[in-house]
Amino acid sequence: MNYDLAFNKLKEFGQEHVLAYFDQLSETEKAELLQQIDETDFSVVRLVNGGASEDEKGKISPLGAMQISEIEERKQELKTKGLEVIRAGKAAAVLLAGGMGTRLGSDAPKGTYNIGETKPVYIFERLISNLMDVVNEAGNYIHLFVMTSDKNNDATISFFKEHNYFGYDVNFVHFFKQEMAPAADYNGKIYMESKYKMATSPNGNGGWFGSMAKYGMLDIVKENGIEYLNVFAVDNVLQRILSPEFVGAVFEGGYAVGSKVVRKAAPDEKVGVMCLEDGRPSIVEYYELTEEMMTEKDANGDLAYNFGVILNYLFRVKDLIEIMEKSMPLHIVEKKIPYMDVEGNNISPETPNGYKFETLVLDMIKLMDNCIPFEVERNKEFAPVKNKTGVDSVESARALLKENGIEL
Ligand code: UTP
Repeated sequence: MNYDLAFNKLKEFGQEHVLAYFDQLSETEKAELLQQIDETDFSVVRLVNGGASEDEKGKISPLGAMQISEIEERKQELKTKGLEVIRAGKAAAVLLAGGMGTRLGSDAPKGTYNIGETKPVYIFERLISNLMDVVNEAGNYIHLFVMTSDKNNDATISFFKEHNYFGYDVNFVHFFKQEMAPAADYNGKIYMESKYKMATSPNGNGGWFGSMAKYGMLDIVKENGIEYLNVFAVDNVLQRILSPEFVGAVFEGGYAVGSKVVRKAAPDEKVGVMCLEDGRPSIVEYYELTEEMMTEKDANGDLAYNFGVILNYLFRVKDLIEIMEKSMPLHIVEKKIPYMDVEGNNISPETPNGYKFETLVLDMIKLMDNCIPFEVERNKEFAPVKNKTGVDSVESARALLKENGIEL
């Protein structure tokens, strides 16, 4: 791309300031900036100031879950089926570790966070240890795909190498990068990170499968006959990955996707809940539930919208391939965005100063023909580390780890 083409592309979206320093740049820097302009999708900034609306919700109705009582009754059968699938190499895991973890307030990848008290216990270490439980039970290694971003890829890979992959077989670990999106101020002007680089942020966790395809990961999936992918968040340190019963339930029922869910702690708990939207599986956010829906009961007298998602989904690969070209809603999120000010100083804001643009994995559920919500015990499987203190924090996760007999 040359200067004129770049200028015209920027002008269409009111972003000509990106070229403000062009004359001062070296040839390499010029080339770098032109390439970034070429590769960037600027249409996302139209979301600022209501230029486009987020996804409109359809008609919401309840979706029943496979509850713990049923899972317990069918435990042996589900487990045997699940282990069969895992032993045949048909299931793999996808760790979503491309996020910035800004709420935790550390620049390092979230998985490298040491949650230990008397000894180092890293988040990645906990996740690998949990995956090893299934590896040991099945008697074979499981492919693990790790999504990183431009911002944390090198640091993540070095960390795994330094720690010898926490004992995991390196031949089964595959890193791939997600894409980035520009980050803008409250007026929709893209921030500059330096004179020759626009500020960018990872584009959300919704593009993980597309990014796997882009980075050649689907070759590994196809070559190894992988039919199911268990995608999960980096920050739940009690995350159970490819639990055999879960795999068995999704496989046995012929579902396109399974979603681990936990029973809500209160009708108004701030968690996205599984539901049907215009007859398709979907997730409704707590603020989208009306008072009436929040307290609505099913035939057994339980809350009709009672099961919250914990970002642990088991997708069938063939269904993921079918929806690959479908567009996903874009969400606008307020964040702290480091940038270069007009005097050329690098600023790291203490409070949010603009927007980033994201697609979300939960929006993939609606694109699937069916989904089985699979209930798990909250205190055994859900300890998210989002903040330093308070709700979903290092402190609350430590308490839950100890409750589950993990030494810290
Ligand atoms: P969060 O929604 O908690 O976002 O991610 P985050 O960026 O990690 O943290 P904050 O909001 O800045 O504090 C949920 C999961 O999705 C992954 C995260 O790594 C985490 O596992 N994620 C999020 C990505 O892989 N890519 C993204 O662009 C965003």
